[in-house]
Amino acid sequence: MKREQWGSRTGFILAAVGSAIGLGNIWRFPYMAYENGGGAFFIPYLFAMLTAGIPFMIMEFSLGHKLRGAAPRAFAKVGAKFEWLGWFQVSIASVIAVYYVAIIGWAISYLGYSFTQNWGSDTNAFFFGEYLKLGDNTPTQLGSLQFHIAIPMAIAWAITFAAIFTGVKGGIERASKIMMPLLFLLVLVLISRVVFLPGALDGLNYLFQPDFSKILDAKVWSAAYGQIFFTLSVGFAIMIAYSSYLPEKSDINNNAFMTVLINCGFSITAGVLIFGVLGYMAQEQAKPLTEVVSAGVGLAFVTIPAAINLLPAPYILGPLFFLALVVAGLSSHISILEAVTSAIIDKLHWSRKKAATVVCGIGFVVSMAFATNGGLLLLDLIDYFINNVALLTSCLIELLIIGWLFKAADVRSYTNNISEFSVGKWFEICIRFLSPAMLAVILGTNLVNTFNEGYGGYAVSDLMLLGWGLVAAMFVLAVIINLASKTHTHQEA
Ligand code: ALA
Repeated sequence: MKREQWGSRTGFILAAVGSAIGLGNIWRFPYMAYENGGGAFFIPYLFAMLTAGIPFMIMEFSLGHKLRGAAPRAFAKVGAKFEWLGWFQVSIASVIAVYYVAIIGWAISYLGYSFTQNWGSDTNAFFFGEYLKLGDNTPTQLGSLQFHIAIPMAIAWAITFAAIFTGVKGGIERASKIMMPLLFLLVLVLISRVVFLPGALDGLNYLFQPDFSKILDAKVWSAAYGQIFFTLSVGFAIMIAYSSYLPEKSDINNNAFMTVLINCGFSITAGVLIFGVLGYMAQEQAKPLTEVVSAGVGLAFVTIPAAINLLPAPYILGPLFFLALVVAGLSSHISILEAVTSAIIDKLHWSRKKAATVVCGIGFVVSMAFATNGGLLLLDLIDYFINNVALLTSCLIELLIIGWLFKAADVRSYTNNISEFSVGKWFEICIRFLSPAMLAVILGTNLVNTFNEGYGGYAVSDLMLLGWGLVAAMFVLAVIINLASKTHTHQEA
């Protein structure tokens, strides 16, 4: 069967950028920056972007392009015993897919509420109490299914399914060509209004003013690296799948630089937007900024609605903001599902339509766990382990395999041969030495800290089951699939 292809270079870039720019940029980046020292966060963030993000993107584009397969097939071509890494990455994508869609669902609900600011004046009580209906639940005592959350999630699934079902060019590329320009337009309109609000500049000062006491904190570096891999959609099977649909004559280096720079530029723009609004809100309420902002998930669904209440023309700016969040989330959700679907198509030789139906169908059912009273807690716990343990492990192992066994030098000469401009020796240094060393230290610290201190005050049994247990199960499953295919290949041979 001939592999599908992107229709144009712009189509591919828009799809890659569409994958990268997502909830990670609008929902996660600003609170990460805020929690990790404001301006001081930019140092590890930019360092991670330059030394890990860009080389990683070039490496994954080269792997997909050269080996013409989704992650499991690509790693199997590097060496039969590495196929498991591809499946481990696919499992990371599968887990992200089911909780990511919950946040898109919330954003769809909030898009509806924003026309009349239905959330009222106590946005905190509204979000946790009335909307999520979070009681004394825990990640393992989820309560019951909340239809008002499940329905918008179903809408998100339907859009993702339609894109994946229709195929690379007719579905994903077409969706990206509509969604990305729309997203840029929305953010442009929002930002050009927000920066002129009184107090907005104080908000920006807060975001960019460094708190250097945090820079030696390993947690800040971990957050920066985790954020870079998550936001760039690398290390969890997406970019390998997307670049496997590139035509033979394709530029890799330029495409990779563009994808990374557009994405990170967008994050900073989103940070400016959010902190501009917060600065305005602080001024309106005559409070210091630290008192108006809430960290974590609350930022987009508690603080921003409260700020929208105070904005001029809230019935216009509110819907624009939540529409941007929905669009950004959907284009990424599509790519996360494509990473899984393409792996299944490669492995089982199913038709795209069958694979998309089965993958999205199962995903939809599993994701309903997040549409319960305790869904937020489940999401928080799993998101932490996926980003700080599973994703960093996957990236470290990928660097070691490609940097040392497959040879970074070969990747460099491959990509330089087909690209408009060449990357220098720094590429190999980053892939072989710098990034693995940084990741090993960060991951090691994370493992020790999480093991000793737990996370978020959750019960040890919950952490064991849904954190450590989940990651271990993903790993074991990946290895089993690998072993099964080796036996299968032996039998065939
Ligand atoms: N890269 C996507 C995001 O940042 C997954 O949301």
